[in-house]
Amino acid sequence: MTDLVIRDATADDVPAISALVQHTVRKSNGRDYPPQAVELIVANFAPAKVGQRMAERDVFVCQKGDRIVGTIALGGDRLRSLFVDPELQQAGIGAQLVAHLEAHARKVGVGELKLSSSLTARGFYERLGYRLIQSEEHDGVSSFLMVKVLTSP
Ligand SMILES: CC(C)(COP(=O)(O)OP(=O)(O)OC[C@H]1O[C@@H](n2cnc3c(N)ncnc32)[C@H](O)[C@@H]1OP(=O)(O)O)[C@@H](O)C(=O)NCCC(=O)NCCS
Repeated sequence: MTDLVIRDATADDVPAISALVQHTVRKSNGRDYPPQAVELIVANFAPAKVGQRMAERDVFVCQKGDRIVGTIALGGDRLRSLFVDPELQQAGIGAQLVAHLEAHARKVGVGELKLSSSLTARGFYERLGYRLIQSEEHDGVSSFLMVKVLTSP
């Protein structure tokens, strides 16, 4: 897809990131999780929470024109909060965001990138070379701890 830019997020992006994630969780993750679990995740991505976490993580956005259509973050050695606009999924944006994050993680010295995958994204991460370490469950929400060794490009 052309006209996509992946860049560092700024505080001005917080409302758009929150809206994108909340919409994506309801629409995409809502197919795999019960409504209570979906609303717990949605609450966790309210603008104030997104803003707080931005201080602790390296957050990136994918912009198409003036619209934010994807986001991803690095917190310590963990890939966090990857979401792609449901209308634009299956077009390579998720894979581009992961490649951008892996390059950033290598640059800051992360040798092994970990993540906690949703049910929804597990097959996607497997395709990108992430290996399942263990299945987890918190508040009835199942997730999958996965890891990838980052080799030099
Ligand atoms: C998971 C997600 C980020 C993938 O983004 P995307 O832009 O649709 O993914 P891409 O188009 O880059 O897909 C890359 C490859 O993975 C495959 N793929 C995508 N989603 C997949 C899935 N759920 N299961 C298996 N394979 C998948 C694609 O077909 C593509 O394969 P290809 O290389 O043969 O073409 C997106 O579906 C999403 O936002 N989901 C909801 C939020 C979520 O669960 N995020 C993860 C939180 S841990």
